[in-house]
Amino acid sequence: MGLSFPFRARHVPVTFHPSLSRKAAEMAVASEPFTTWYRRCEKPQGLQQIEIHSVEIQSVDLFGARGVGFVKINSHCTLVVDGETHREHRLPGICFLRGSAVSIFVALYCEDGSVHSLLVDQPRIPIGQVSCLEVPAGMVDDETETVAGIAVKEMEEECGIVVTPSQLVDLTALACQEAVQAGHLPIAGIPPSPGGCDEFCRYLYLEKKVTVTELQDMRGRLQGLRDHGEFITLRVVPIADVWKISSDAKAMISLFLLDRLRREGKLPPAGELATPLLHPEPLLKLNTGATIQQLAFGLYKVPATEQGEETILDAVAAGYRHFDGASFYGNEVHLGRALRKSGIPRKEFFITSKAWNDSVKEGRAAVRASVEKSLADVGFGYYFDAFLIHWPVPGCFVDAYKELEDLYKEGRLRAIGLSNFSVEEYTTLVESGIQVPPSMNQMEISPVMYRKEMIDYFQSRDILVCAYKPLNRGGALDRPAITKLATKYAVSPAQIMLRWGVQKGLVVAAKTSTASRMPENRALMHFQLSKDDMLILDALTTAEDLRKRVDHELTRKTSL
Ligand SMILES: NC(=O)c1ccc[n+]([C@@H]2O[C@H](COP(=O)([O-])OP(=O)(O)OC[C@H]3O[C@@H](n4cnc5c(N)ncnc54)[C@H](OP(=O)(O)O)[C@@H]3O)[C@@H](O)[C@H]2O)c1
Repeated sequence: MGLSFPFRARHVPVTFHPSLSRKAAEMAVASEPFTTWYRRCEKPQGLQQIEIHSVEIQSVDLFGARGVGFVKINSHCTLVVDGETHREHRLPGICFLRGSAVSIFVALYCEDGSVHSLLVDQPRIPIGQVSCLEVPAGMVDDETETVAGIAVKEMEEECGIVVTPSQLVDLTALACQEAVQAGHLPIAGIPPSPGGCDEFCRYLYLEKKVTVTELQDMRGRLQGLRDHGEFITLRVVPIADVWKISSDAKAMISLFLLDRLRREGKLPPAGELATPLLHPEPLLKLNTGATIQQLAFGLYKVPATEQGEETILDAVAAGYRHFDGASFYGNEVHLGRALRKSGIPRKEFFITSKAWNDSVKEGRAAVRASVEKSLADVGFGYYFDAFLIHWPVPGCFVDAYKELEDLYKEGRLRAIGLSNFSVEEYTTLVESGIQVPPSMNQMEISPVMYRKEMIDYFQSRDILVCAYKPLNRGGALDRPAITKLATKYAVSPAQIMLRWGVQKGLVVAAKTSTASRMPENRALMHFQLSKDDMLILDALTTAEDLRKRVDHELTRKTSL
């Protein structure tokens, strides 16, 4: 049967180029750009309307979320005037169908009074340029998403900036609403090249407040996935120069719309909408393939009371989704209550628990019972994202680990791992013939307890190293080297210590019961410690510190 599509109570025949498979042609006809195109043509526009008689699909490119990326067609269309079709009055019908796009013009209001825009620089083959300065933009290739939702993703992927949909101003909606109502435009978008392409662009606008360091940090930053052919470099450009140096019509249109909308009072004066910059949550990959938030909220000493629940809810509100718990901390019931109360789905959290020494000593059945009890206490989902052996009880940890392996295979534990394991204990475990490699090892690490050899050893085996006591329980915050760097980077001493851990590729599990410290302990992505400053921090740990820690752990383990 021939291909066709429904159009005003009849079927329009579709042919396709011999180089195309029927399957590709069918996909093209069912694709969003194609269906959107003929439905737009279908609508009567005043006394005139477009009549489609036949379509030839010339090419189909498959890529992106919806499968069909670009479709090129040659359509036989005529204009119907006052109900009369003149078949010989053929309209130019070659169309490149690619769907709509969204662009986000960014204005960065810096604390030093300067105003910049953020452009992306990337090679563009269609115009033969290795460098093309453009407004961040993306294709609307996921029809289940809103325009703002797509813009939010683009901002994060292309610019590394976290935005909420409500922070984005839709300039096109403000400018074109009347034209849409009058039937001049099918959507509040502007077609940049209506002679050959179906694209309607939605122009959004974003204002952000930035510090001098944040602005500096964005300059020349590399974005995009190299292995997906995305070679994006961020460029920070004085906003007044954009119209002179950008090779992008989207920039010109955005500037024009901003100017007109402000003059007509449809937009507040420049800078009034600016909100502080938010950075994406740093993520790491576990050897199971799962993603883990690099910044964890430590639960040791969070009280098992209503006050403790409030603390955990404060941590959720501050953005924490990764919680480092343990049966030993005695607060798993309260952790569960708080997380359930937050209303955020279980899958958005990463919850770790640990088997305490008594169960590890008692054997496999006790370890299983301890996992079941912790799961029941938290009472939020049927699984833990990670479950660790809290301490390697000599002679018992291999059996305990093997029980965790079974629970992993049953799907109750999505990752299993270690805590306070030395290289020797890990080697004993591996040599005992385990089947599931540990995903992480948690140990005390901070700039004043820099365990380089341990970190290198486990990281090189694809085992994440999780730093506990990353703030040394507050004990090193007044060290001159740390306070000096805090002044240099205009951050707090705690942020210096935590950022050091982030740059070492560690999961950083800090604890605070003080709500105001939570956003502080998470604001680590707007600055980067230089290589030399990292070395200054590395040097804070002496050989004596390391020896004392190893001795302490040995004594502790032999007394278990
Ligand atoms: N696997 C293990 O054996 C093991 C052992 C120890 C810890 N851990 C895990 O690691 C987590 C963190 O370790 P930790 O709690 O021992 O120590 P930590 O995170 O290094 O330090 C916590 C202390 O630092 C203070 N603090 C937090 N943020 C601060 C800031 N911005 N400025 C000044 N002071 C700040 C907190 O005070 P306030 O609370 O008063 O704000 C608290 O007293 C634990 O909660 C636990 O989840 C695991």
